[in-house]
Amino acid sequence: MKPDKTKLQITILITALLFTVLLVFLFHRKQDIIPGWKIPGVVNDKGGKPATPSGDKLKTWTDTKVVPDGEFPLLKPLDPKKYKNLSKDELQIFNITAKSLLNENRARGRNNPYVLLDILDLKEGDNIGDIGCGPGYYTFILAYRVGKKVKDPATGKTVVKPVGKNGGLVYAVDFYPPMITYVKFMREHLAKERKVDFQNIKFICNEADGLVYDIPADTLDFAFLSEMHIYNHIPDNPHQFVTQEQRKNKEYYFNMLRDRSEDFTKSIHNALKPGGLLFITETCEVNKPNQSILYKDDVIKLLESTGLFKFEKTDDSFMGAYLLFMKKITGEKEKSK
Ligand SMILES: C[S@@+](CC[C@H](N)C(=O)[O-])C[C@H]1O[C@@H](n2cnc3c(N)ncnc32)[C@H](O)[C@@H]1O
Repeated sequence: MKPDKTKLQITILITALLFTVLLVFLFHRKQDIIPGWKIPGVVNDKGGKPATPSGDKLKTWTDTKVVPDGEFPLLKPLDPKKYKNLSKDELQIFNITAKSLLNENRARGRNNPYVLLDILDLKEGDNIGDIGCGPGYYTFILAYRVGKKVKDPATGKTVVKPVGKNGGLVYAVDFYPPMITYVKFMREHLAKERKVDFQNIKFICNEADGLVYDIPADTLDFAFLSEMHIYNHIPDNPHQFVTQEQRKNKEYYFNMLRDRSEDFTKSIHNALKPGGLLFITETCEVNKPNQSILYKDDVIKLLESTGLFKFEKTDDSFMGAYLLFMKKITGEKEKSK
């Protein structure tokens, strides 16, 4: 009997040891998502340190507060033969932002931002609101497409400037301070290290409901909302979505979302130029039973019911996500069309 008991104790001890090693390994892996990039400022909900002055705790690694002090590793460059439509600068921006935003799979796979940009058909001089910009996954490529590209012969840098007095601008908007900090850092990094100097990005760290104070009326050609979930968010708690249970009651769900998004919708309408487009892209794959999905038809109905927007077009060729274009309604004449 005795040797058996000792054997059991040893087994338990070894299992506990292995488990501890596994936990330590997993913890370190999480901190080292970008190999070779030191992230001394990482705080997360496990660390318990407040991430923002208001004391919010961060929930996921994409919400990580990043204070980078290391070198950005470069991706194995994209094959220029495969991406013939991209300039050298664009390939560079892609390589840096995709890797540093921890979104390499997304960028190389179904959500390649350049595929999206071709569908958007942006022109130099367009103004864009990148609303809920997050860490800037789209901000820089949007800014590159709409800005005026000038080579500085002295430094060899490409300077991306506004077009005229008030054109070719990207307003990067997010209410979560670490996101804006990150986009600002990336701007500096791209300018210093990678020689693309963006001078056409304006930063707005604010609740999108208040855009009416931050972006002058009739400014934007596009309000760009990628995975922002605004028509699905519970504003008091950005991490909480409308539940499946609430969805069962269609009318309740619809009215609730409309009430919640009213100020935001008005803000966007005000910021857009006459005929400007509200562009929404949201994931439409249902991977998990409780996954919150913002249905395209619901959004169209919601926005049309405000009388401020009308359906323009939709495009489902972007794998795994829908692209929806809603047009700003300006006057009585257009409303009745
Ligand atoms: C899922 S991320 C998408 C980021 C980026 N657009 C992309 O496609 O990678 C959503 C972002 O929207 C921001 N956000 C959500 N609601 C917002 C609001 N009401 N006002 C401003 N920003 C908001 C969040 O802080 C978050 O950074």
